[in-house]
Amino acid sequence: MKIYVTENYQAMSRKAANIVAAQVILTPTSVLGLSTGSTPVGLYKQLITWYEKGDLDFSQVCTVNLDEYVGLAPDHDQSYHYFMQKHFFGHVNIAPENTYVPDGLVSDPNTACRRYNQIIRDLGGIDIQVLGIGHNGHIGFNEPGESFELETHVVNLSERTIDANARFFASRDEVPRQAVTMGIKSIMQARQILMVVSGGDKADTVKAAFTGPVTPQVPASILQMHSNVILVGDKAALSQL
Ligand code: PGA
Repeated sequence: MKIYVTENYQAMSRKAANIVAAQVILTPTSVLGLSTGSTPVGLYKQLITWYEKGDLDFSQVCTVNLDEYVGLAPDHDQSYHYFMQKHFFGHVNIAPENTYVPDGLVSDPNTACRRYNQIIRDLGGIDIQVLGIGHNGHIGFNEPGESFELETHVVNLSERTIDANARFFASRDEVPRQAVTMGIKSIMQARQILMVVSGGDKADTVKAAFTGPVTPQVPASILQMHSNVILVGDKAALSQL
């Protein structure tokens, strides 16, 4: 595992963007695993800046996103489709048909999950998976207690995650209660993992995930078993390591 400690959020974003940029430059046909949340926004912003300067070309890149809320249409301003469009896809030359986000609106989510697993396999797997980490140690929407053995599946969100996400909705009642997420098994199959983390409020979580026991109670702890993890965090987030 490689750990990069940076001064602050901006430096974290730049370092992480350097790693994704290197991947895209070395392998223009890369499959990028992407994630939402507030942490990777700076990383996407930096990639957009380098794209605008002519340093990056996403025309042959494919992307697969980690998760999506059940019940939100792609154009809902809190859907992860919308997030990706707003923060990244809408600003670079990625072909829309090469971007995949789980479908939160399907009537048969289990079929949709199987289809999503097949999409990832047909793409040849994920070259680098960008991950944030929740305060409870979740990755994607894999909440504490979730099996390590699952690929894409439907989950019930924990009360803590609903609370954390309520800030993005008009009221807590409007936060969806379920999501479709790549499972831990899907994440572990990525050839490289890039975790980004910022802020002292995540320090204890990072410590538990990377120095504590590997347990489904801390989903991110499974990353200790992955052979190619890069952790990029600001010094506040990594202060307990
Ligand atoms: P955040 O979310 O980046 O908004 O803190 C991370 C996560 O819950 O995975």
